[in-house]
Amino acid sequence: FLHKIVLGIETSCDDTAAAVVDETGNVLGEAIHSQTEIHLKAGGIIPPVAQQLHRENIHRIVQEAVSASNLSPSDLSAIATTIKPGLALSLGVGLSFSLQLVNQLKKPFIPIHHMEAHALTIRLTNNVEFPFLVLLISGGHCLLALVQGVSDFLLLGKSLDIAPGDMFDKVARRLSLVKHPECSTMSGGKAIEHLAKQGNKLCFDLKHPMQRAKSCDFSFSGLQSNVNKLITQKEKEEGIEAGQVLSSAADIAASVQHTTARHIARTTYRAISFCQKRSLLSQTNAVLVASGGVASNMYIRKALEVVTDLTQCTLLCPPPKLCTDNGIMIAWNGIERLRAGLGILYNPEGIRYEPKCPL
Ligand code: KG4
Ligand code: ZN
Repeated sequence: FLHKIVLGIETSCDDTAAAVVDETGNVLGEAIHSQTEIHLKAGGIIPPVAQQLHRENIHRIVQEAVSASNLSPSDLSAIATTIKPGLALSLGVGLSFSLQLVNQLKKPFIPIHHMEAHALTIRLTNNVEFPFLVLLISGGHCLLALVQGVSDFLLLGKSLDIAPGDMFDKVARRLSLVKHPECSTMSGGKAIEHLAKQGNKLCFDLKHPMQRAKSCDFSFSGLQSNVNKLITQKEKEEGIEAGQVLSSAADIAASVQHTTARHIARTTYRAISFCQKRSLLSQTNAVLVASGGVASNMYIRKALEVVTDLTQCTLLCPPPKLCTDNGIMIAWNGIERLRAGLGILYNPEGIRYEPKCPL
C-alpha cells in the first residue's frame, strides 16, 4: 500500500525551505535555510539579495529534505510550491526550480497559496474539522478568515496598512535592538517579546488603533508612528544619539506589545462573535487557529486565550517551528489538495507566480 507523498518547496520571502510529507502527516524529511540574520544586518529585506540567497541554497535544501526522507525522487506523488503571494524575485526562484524538477521527474505540480498553507497547517498537527477561524499574523500578512474547506476561505478582515510583524520589526530597528547584547540575533518581534518581559507595559499610554471600528480590519502604522515619536522624545530626554539603545527600551517594548495584543484580541473577538451570530461557527466548540510568526508571541497568545474563553472557543496554535515559514506546511497543503483533488497540474508550463494575491 503506497501513501501519497509530497515534496513541498517554499521561497516566498526570506526562507528557503523544503519538506517531504506523507498522507498521514508524517514529516519524512525537511530542511530550511533562513536569511533572517543577513537581512537583519542590512536593516531589512533587499529583494535582489533574497533572490540571490534563494538561488544559492535551493538546490541543497531540496536535496537535504529528499535524502533525509530516504526515498527516491520517483517515490514522490507530486511537487507543491508556493507561487503566491510574496516577493516576486523570491517566488520566481522557487517556481523555476520546481518546474525544472517537475519536468525532470515527470510528476504533477501543485501551486500553493502561502497564506492558505499557513491556515491549514493545524490539520497536520491536530484533528481539526472545517469550518474553523484562522488568524494569520506575520511579517508580511495580517488577516482573519473563516476556513470552510481546503480551498474555501471567507476573508473577514485584514490589515489596512502594515502587518504586526512588520511593525515590530520597524520598532525594533528604531530601537536599535540588534545592538542589544541579548537580542542581536533575534527577529524584531522576538526581540520585542524578550525585552518586554523586563519592562512595564503601563509605563507609556499608547493610543489603541481603530478604537471605534466595527469591522474586523487591523491597522498598525498609526501605532508605529506614535512609538517613533515616543522614541524620539526619549532619546532627547536620555540625551543619547539615534542608534544607541535607550534605557527605556524594555518599557517601550512592553507597551507596544500590550497595545498590539489588545488590538488583535479585540478584532478577533469581533470576528468570532460575527461568525457565531450567523451560525458560521459553533456557539460552544468552535476552533480559533492562530498562526504566522507573530502568533509565536506568548503575550499575544494569552490575550487570545481570554477571547476564546469568553466565546467558548478553543485556541489552537501550530508548534513554533510550523508557525513561521517552512516547507512542511507547503507539502501538507499539497497533500490536502491531492486528497481533495484540487488544483493538481499535469502540465504546468504556463503557470506564473503572483506577488499580490488575496485569499
Ligand atoms: O511567518 P513569518 O516567519 O514570515 C512571514 O512574514 O510570512 O513571520 C515573521 C515575522 C517577523 O516580522 C517577526 O518579527 C515576527 O514574525 N515574529 C514575532 C515573534 N517571532 C517572530 N513577533 C512577535 N513575537 C514573536 N515572538
Ligand atoms: Zn509566512
